[in-house]
Amino acid sequence: MVREKTVSDKRASASEEDELDILAENITRILEEGYAQTYSPEVIAEFRNPANVGLLEDADGKGVADGLCNDTIEMYIKVRNRRIVACTFMTDGCGATIACASRLTRFVKGMAVDEAMMVTPNDLISLLNGLPEEHRHCAALAVLALRNAIRDHQSRRKKEAKA
Ligand code: FES
Repeated sequence: MVREKTVSDKRASASEEDELDILAENITRILEEGYAQTYSPEVIAEFRNPANVGLLEDADGKGVADGLCNDTIEMYIKVRNRRIVACTFMTDGCGATIACASRLTRFVKGMAVDEAMMVTPNDLISLLNGLPEEHRHCAALAVLALRNAIRDHQSRRKKEAKA
């Protein structure tokens, strides 16, 4: 027979839930303090709320970059009149990778293709107000994926011109 929950049972389970909430809050606070010591506010903001995540339907160029760390970034661009009108990304990488890819997509939107090709990892690191040494390669990976997307777009254009 199932015993009905008494008031004290309910209080006990409510206080267990409260304790779990407090524990979760403490873990989040500790993690955030750790992040804040390691990453700039710009990186944290970008990582928490990344822009332009996902596949781009009918992309005009797609680029992939694989890091030695085993992380991958895919970038998609849509181009009109030699300008990037949309740029999205997907990654299985770390928080810094997400921040780099997100900031890069926002930075190059509206930029001429040739100009976007000149963006360097250091430019991206400056936009993010710095990255820890061990995560600088995340910026290089994002830039490489973008350049590969632009190269893909350029080679599609050449093929179309020949056809
Ligand atoms: Fe490898 Fe970020 S740790 S790309």
